[in-house]
Amino acid sequence: MSQPALHVDVYQTISPEALAGLNNGKVAVVTGAARGIGKAIAISIAKTGANVALLDLDAERQADTKAECEKVGVKAFAYACDVTNHDVSKQVYAQIQRDLGDVHIVVNNAGGNSRRPAHMETWEQFWRGVEINVKGALIWSLLVLPDFRARRAGSIINIASRAGTVTMPFAAAYSTGKAGLIRFSACLQAELDQDGFGDDIHVYALHPGAVKTSMTIPIADDVAKEYPGMAEKWGNFHKLFRCVPEVCGQTCAFLSTGRGKALHGKYFDCEQDIGTVVAAGREGLEGLYDLKVEFLGGLPNDGGTVSSSALEKA
Ligand SMILES: NC(=O)c1ccc[n+]([C@@H]2O[C@H](COP(=O)([O-])OP(=O)(O)OC[C@H]3O[C@@H](n4cnc5c(N)ncnc54)[C@H](O)[C@@H]3O)[C@@H](O)[C@H]2O)c1
Repeated sequence: MSQPALHVDVYQTISPEALAGLNNGKVAVVTGAARGIGKAIAISIAKTGANVALLDLDAERQADTKAECEKVGVKAFAYACDVTNHDVSKQVYAQIQRDLGDVHIVVNNAGGNSRRPAHMETWEQFWRGVEINVKGALIWSLLVLPDFRARRAGSIINIASRAGTVTMPFAAAYSTGKAGLIRFSACLQAELDQDGFGDDIHVYALHPGAVKTSMTIPIADDVAKEYPGMAEKWGNFHKLFRCVPEVCGQTCAFLSTGRGKALHGKYFDCEQDIGTVVAAGREGLEGLYDLKVEFLGGLPNDGGTVSSSALEKA
């Protein structure tokens, strides 16, 4: 099959007009909603008619996102929440339910990348780089899970990164967190499928596209001094970041409506045309949009029993 089209701007399938009203009466939680991609996700989902709970490290800096969401006629509440703090997240989840009612959609977008080599970070900095990209998403996925299962409905969209699928320097903590998040999304969906919730509760991991935001700032001075070649390489790479944040925002809106269920449990790159990919159906996507390892000679990777299954066949 030929390559699906690539997009760096919003296109018809995911446009606000195509999705208007599809989430009327629902409630969506968006983390890291103060700026960048999270802000675009909140506004895009608000445009589908869902009321939104906006989470970031403090509430004040979300004022602009809140105002933009309210402009489209939905309720928007901003909460101060470090999503890596389980106790605080539990309290905020209870408050959201009191303010807005049952939650139907969670977009775990909060994240960050120091873009430093591991040896130039303290343990605390390094671990923070891992947990900021995976722990918050796990906490919020597991917080809503019992309610989603009880109501047999819900979408969880985890904003991962291409960094979770490729190997590169200056991203050990970030890539560890993002790879974990992609695998978590697939495993959680597998558990839901096994229990018969697969058509009703869907989980996705996304690469949002290469978007110029506060997170993609050039590398720090001390790192650039140590690695002048890398600094220049990053500068050139960064020039290729052309995707607008609304492409991810509208892709989340599309998935939150349930229109992209063929991709459930999978890792999707928002720059690919989602209409073409979803049209391939679950069978057409079998073995694709997933983290995997290829072995010389095609050794099957069947969950830890490779040698016994290969020996049985021999
Ligand atoms: N920009 C890109 O090209 C790109 C590429 C791949 C993946 N991503 C992912 O997209 C997501 C959004 O990135 P962005 O580029 O908009 O970054 P950004 O830095 O502009 O925004 C991230 C937001 O998350 C918030 N946040 C960080 N830690 C938090 C915490 N513990 N609790 C609550 N809020 C927290 C920040 O305050 C900020 O508002 C991230 O998960 C990032 O890893 C971005």
